[in-house]
Amino acid sequence: MPDKKILDAGDPANLELASEKIRTGGVVAFPTETVYGLGADVFNKEAVCRVYEIKKRPSFDPLIVHVSSSDEALRLWREIPSVALTLMKKFWPGPLTLVLPKKHAVPDIVTAGLDTVAVRMPKHPAALELIRKSGTPVAAPSANRFGHASPTTAEAVYEELGEGPDLILDGGSTPVGVESTVLKVEKKSGFLLRPGGIALEELENFLRVRTVSDGGDVSRSPGRMESHYAIATPLHLAAQPLGRCLEALEGFCESRPAVGRPKLGLLSFGDPESPAGLFQAVEALSAKKDLREAAAKLFQAMRKLDKMGLDLILAMPVPEKGLGLAIMDRLRKASGVDSLMEFLNGWK
Ligand code: TXA
Ligand code: MG
Repeated sequence: MPDKKILDAGDPANLELASEKIRTGGVVAFPTETVYGLGADVFNKEAVCRVYEIKKRPSFDPLIVHVSSSDEALRLWREIPSVALTLMKKFWPGPLTLVLPKKHAVPDIVTAGLDTVAVRMPKHPAALELIRKSGTPVAAPSANRFGHASPTTAEAVYEELGEGPDLILDGGSTPVGVESTVLKVEKKSGFLLRPGGIALEELENFLRVRTVSDGGDVSRSPGRMESHYAIATPLHLAAQPLGRCLEALEGFCESRPAVGRPKLGLLSFGDPESPAGLFQAVEALSAKKDLREAAAKLFQAMRKLDKMGLDLILAMPVPEKGLGLAIMDRLRKASGVDSLMEFLNGWK
């Protein structure tokens, strides 16, 4: 990794340099509490355009605007129901993105032509300082190529985007590890566009939240693709019970000795009870079944397994409560292998 591009986010001189880049139309990757973002001045259309180009992101997928104060958000939205103010007070700074009608001043390229804009105030000192010093809200999607897993380290940003960003601020591993919860706020209710770092149960203390499973309009968030967060190695999210997957894998390995054994990796949660020798590599998301710990490790563990030349990664499901909802959403979208048996029969 080239040193001149990746700078320590803890050094005020580097934050000054990064903010100068933003002010002068540059594109900077920076840490937030969720994942790394790829930021540009929200009002600079050419700079925002470069963000789409560097990510190879289709222009129909809008960006999240990052602010360093609630007042800055109020200058971007046209209509703000009181429940939105309550949510901002309770959860900002933090991993909650609110989608509300936008003011005319917010360029169409940021919102992909939608009449709404997604805004959040990140809970990371370097991100907040960068936005403050830049003197403008910062439009920033996750700093990965479109459709790929989000980066939770500066190294992962470099792996994804190479020389694309003008510079990368290195703030170490991001603590939350999954992206923000995206909530479209209506007068008194909300629509969950993406589960994330703030649990659905927490939001439900403040408003009624509808989800896609309530029969909501799926087109509301253009970025809500079925396939996303992908790595190169095929991944299969184990359907319950896990034991049956393991039996299928063992049976396959034993029944076709001439073919050789596929190199298997496991993303485990809790005690994997894995038969010895079946997996070449095991990444434990959380041995003690802590969903926060699992979320924080998820993308890093996926990337680590992806570098091991495996044929297949088996991911164990986690309970769909708290941060588990976001983890399962990411695993389902990263899972390109629907049927384990079909995959095994087609392998070699
Ligand atoms: O934690 C996060 O949210 C990270 C960090 C960098 O802040 N950002 C992030 O951005 O995950 P991105 O672009 O990867 O995901 C933003 C999601 C997309 O699915 C997009 O479609 C949706 O938010 N979105 C943005 N603006 C929207 C809008 N006006 N209406 C509906 N969905 C919107
Ligand atoms: Mg993303």
